[in-house]
Order: sequence, then structure tokens, then C-alpha cells
Amino acid sequence: MQLSLSHLKKSFELTQRSGWGVERKFVHAVSDVSLDIREGESFGIVGESGSGKSTLARLILGLEQPTEGGITLGGRDVAGLTGKARRDYWKQVQIIFQDPFSSLNPRMRIGEILAEPIRNYGVATGDLTERVERLLKLVGLAPTASNRYPHELSGGQRQRVAIAAALAVEPRIILADEAVSALDVSVQAQIINLLSDLKQQFGLTYIFITHDLNLSVYFCDRIAVLYLGQIMEICSSDALLERPVHPYTQALISAVPAVDPAKRKNRTRLTGEIPSPIDPPKGCPFHPRCALAIAQCSETRPELVDIGNGHRAACHVVTQNVLQTAATT
Ligand SMILES: Nc1ncnc2c1ncn2[C@@H]1O[C@H](COP(=O)(O)OP(=O)(O)OP(=O)(O)O)[C@@H](O)[C@H]1O
Ligand SMILES: [Mg+2]
Repeated sequence: MQLSLSHLKKSFELTQRSGWGVERKFVHAVSDVSLDIREGESFGIVGESGSGKSTLARLILGLEQPTEGGITLGGRDVAGLTGKARRDYWKQVQIIFQDPFSSLNPRMRIGEILAEPIRNYGVATGDLTERVERLLKLVGLAPTASNRYPHELSGGQRQRVAIAAALAVEPRIILADEAVSALDVSVQAQIINLLSDLKQQFGLTYIFITHDLNLSVYFCDRIAVLYLGQIMEICSSDALLERPVHPYTQALISAVPAVDPAKRKNRTRLTGEIPSPIDPPKGCPFHPRCALAIAQCSETRPELVDIGNGHRAACHVVTQNVLQTAATT
């Protein structure tokens, strides 16, 4: 089943007291995001801090209502579901957060934590203890982990429990919001391998949210690059690494330490600060920091344009080059 986001927008209202009374301002956390996540793929969402990744995750889960736009799963509208309809949706779409401490009840033993979703969502057939043991085994934990409390486990083990809790309801899609960002590199690799194995085994779809470009390229089939709540570029992870076209993506990639010194030659430096999402720049949000910006960039927001094979970029300069190449051939 395909998950589709269509012109999704989320603005948060801020009220600030000023000399003349109360001033209303809006944080544009997610701004006109459209994308399709295909069944069985690992889809990466990459962006710097504050680019709107978690807001997008919360919208997909229905924890936030979109200001505008819609979300469909297999063609069915799922934005703003409540009650039983929302629970049915959560049976199909689960999330793993960065910090399992915030999602695992500290006063419950691991066995109880895993039994709860099985009971609540009514997926259990057969013995509950057996089901819990099977879940623990799936994520590489011993059955004895059942009797432990979250604080008695290591960070990696806790994240394994969070994965088991997500798997308990037999979902189709798992959203991982910076799920391995807080872990040591070696533990990170183990969890990534576990997620890959589970994907193979259950044919899962992943939405993998991270600020770590290397990690997303390693783990994902396709990637969307987010900047100030907008998609700058979407393409396969190979294309992102080998031939990124958006100046922002190019700058992001050259900021990542490259093992191959040849790849460091044409480095573009990302200068200046990421602007505030309260008053985002007019036109392309990246234009104040972009070395290639032309007059149009500060005037009109570029559309995502397909430059071939589903590789899409939102950049006036890229679009212009594509049109020029097409005209001369
Ligand atoms: N409930 C809220 N009220 C007001 N502003 C919010 C709210 N939630 C998010 N924001 C703002 O929306 C913007 C996007 O936040 P979000 O948490 O989605 O970013 P992020 O990409 O997940 O960042 P990080 O990498 O730091 O987790 C930020 O400017 C943030 O301050
Ligand atoms: Mg976040």
C-alpha cells in the first residue's frame, strides 16, 4: 500500500507579547510537501535540525492535524483520524523514536511493555508469554529480558525493545525518527542490520528520518532532502551521492567527510545560518545561502521538476539548465 502526502502543510501559531499587545506569528514547520512512499521501500527523509522532519513524522502518524493538504494510505484518507479508525491506522503504521526512554514506561517490565500492544490491538492469537518471547527473539534479545526494567538495559537493547514494541502489532510501515542517532557507531550498525533483516523477513516499508546523510544513503532506497519544511530534492540514494543537482544537497554532501580525497576537490561551503521558519525567505528558501542564485530565486518558489528517472529537484537554475539542454539536443 502506498502512503501519499499531498501538499502537506503545518504551521504553528505563536503568540508573542509586544508593546502594542499580542502579536501573532506562524512557524511554517512543513510547507507544501508532496511525496509517495512505495510499499516495501526504505524512504529517507534527511534535513538539518529544525527542517521539519519530526513534524512530518507526527503528521504522518496523525498526532498533528495538517494545516493544509492530505495524507492517504492505499488511497484512503488518513489525516485527522480519531478513535477506532486511528487505532486501525496505527496497527499499520508504527513509530520508533530517538530516545526509547521517552516511549518505554520506566515502571513496567519489558515483558509487560511488549504484552500491552498485543493485548490492546487484539493481534494475539495463542499464548501471550510465547508471543512476547518470539518478539524478543526477533530483535535479538534473550527471553530473560522480559523480567528487566528499561533502565536495566543498554541504549542499544532499549532500542531493540522499542523495535519489538512496534513489531508487536504487525505493522506494514515503520517510521524511524532519528532512531539510531543517539547510539554509538558500532551499536548503530547492529540496529541498522536488525532493521534490514526485519524488512526482509516481513516485507516492511520504512520511513527513515535522520540528519545523517551517510546513514540515509547507506540504508535507504530513495531520499527526500528537506530544508525549512520544503523538499529540495528527491531521488534514489545512489543518485543523491553520485549526481546531486540541488545546490543545497551538493553543499550538504560536500560537508560530509569523504573517504575518497578526489571527492573533496570541488567542495561547496555552506555559509550563513539556516533562516528562521517564522519568516522564511520569499521564493526558494535556500536562495540567501546559494552561490548560484538568480533574480527569480528570491521571487518565486521553485516547483519540484523531474530531471529524468524520477529524480526531482526544486531549483530554478537546475530547471533552466534542463530546459536549455533539451532545446539544444
Ligand atoms: N508544537 C510546536 N509549536 C511551535 N513550533 C513548533 C512545534 N513543533 C515544532 N515546531 C517548530 O517547527 C520547526 C520544525 O521542527 P521539527 O521538530 O519538525 O524539526 P526537526 O527537523 O525534527 O529537527 P531536529 O533535527 O532538531 O529533531 C522548528 O522551527 C520547531 O521549532
Ligand atoms: Mg526531530
